[in-house]
Amino acid sequence: MKAWGGRFTEGPDPVAAEFGRSIEVDRELALDDLTGSIAHVRGLERAGLLSVAERDALVAGLEGLATEVEGGGFPWDPELEDVHLNLEMALAARIGPVAGKLHTGRSRNDQVATDLRLWLRRTAAGLDARILDLEGALVGLARREEGTVMPGHTHIQPAQPVLLAHHLLAYVEMLERDRGRFADAVRRANRSPLGSGAIAGTGYPIDRAAVAAELGFDGPTHNSIDAVGDRDFVIESMAAAALTMAHLSRLAEEIVWWTHPAFGWIRPADAFSTGSSMMPNKRNPDPAELVRGRAARVIGQLTGLLALLKGIPASYQRDLQEDKPPLFDALAVLDASLRVLAGMVSTLRVDGERMAAAAGRGFTTATAVADTIVGEGIPFRVAHGIAGRLVAAAERAGTELDGVTDADVAEAFRAAEDPAARERADDPALPGRIRAAATVAGALARCDVVGGTAPARVAAELAGHEARLAEETGRAR
Ligand code: ARG
Repeated sequence: MKAWGGRFTEGPDPVAAEFGRSIEVDRELALDDLTGSIAHVRGLERAGLLSVAERDALVAGLEGLATEVEGGGFPWDPELEDVHLNLEMALAARIGPVAGKLHTGRSRNDQVATDLRLWLRRTAAGLDARILDLEGALVGLARREEGTVMPGHTHIQPAQPVLLAHHLLAYVEMLERDRGRFADAVRRANRSPLGSGAIAGTGYPIDRAAVAAELGFDGPTHNSIDAVGDRDFVIESMAAAALTMAHLSRLAEEIVWWTHPAFGWIRPADAFSTGSSMMPNKRNPDPAELVRGRAARVIGQLTGLLALLKGIPASYQRDLQEDKPPLFDALAVLDASLRVLAGMVSTLRVDGERMAAAAGRGFTTATAVADTIVGEGIPFRVAHGIAGRLVAAAERAGTELDGVTDADVAEAFRAAEDPAARERADDPALPGRIRAAATVAGALARCDVVGGTAPARVAAELAGHEARLAEETGRAR
């Protein structure tokens, strides 16, 4: 049985045939292709196009092929171009001429669009579980290091002290939005193209809604031209993947820096570190570097797909075959990156003392000091200036802000062009209040708002994420 050739007098040129072949890539879709075919066969029988016996023979044959594919024993034939033709020809070889009825009312165009949506749906479900695993690792580390403080950085300069748990939960927030983006992409993709045929819609009275329901789609697509030519769902998922990779890359970047002895904040486990073939001293955070590098690859794949789509007219064009290598690769890279980072994060050793020592360095409590001065009834801009003079005094004296002297405080207040500040300068209890505010604990406690780093706020967020993760992973089981 051949899929075409009736109107041809010449066989295919070997170079052209090789050029068009996609079997090495699209065999990834085999199980989805068989799932789609089984639903299509049932639809054909309901439409009176197959007898019950024919339907049963076709379904049994297709199920047998699924078993062969799953067992790894399916004899893929590169001569047969793609996954669809391989499976159809194998079906003919197993069950005979009735296999020729399978492709009634169907084109590879609506077939591949269906396969890809089914594939995406199940692959995204797997990725969702992996993202949850990484969230679990981050939340677990946040719980283990609940009291650990660190300097928060902006512009890669010491900014304000924060809890390490707060910093880790920032990534959990990003990952939650990433999950939402995948779910959103899948929600839009979850429509059945079957029945669209090659471009115009099938010529048989197939109940498309019933076939869609059987495949777990939310309904049939509503325009056959769009259905065979739409790859928005591929690009949306790729965009979700690229953004997730960008988030993972940021985390990886921090793991790399924090591992450097100049920081010395964390130590990745041996199992997630590599040595050097030349330098016996080396301990490299390679997996994190590779995540960062592979993020570049996925971002490139997203832009490649946008370029692929932008020039082609509506409906199916063969260019669309080129969607699969980047999509499959990107989601596999994401899956692997999520796994390796989950492993790395859950086995990280944190040096809480070094982090704590760094937390107060660089006058990171200056904002808390300024806020405390505002509490003395002084306008913020004036308070900012006073705190800045205190930073300068501490810098000259080689101390941190909680080491400023009574004289430094009096002088900084007296220098302010503000009557209230000048009046305060003589308050003997003032320096004590300033120094208390200038501690890391004092600075953290001040940020007592929803989403702030005050310990009680972080504890509430952490508990919320733990409860959510317990519920979500429980539901997934
Ligand atoms: N291998 C093709 C793809 O991935 C399947 C559809 C081919 N259709 C066609 N008319 N040549 O897009």
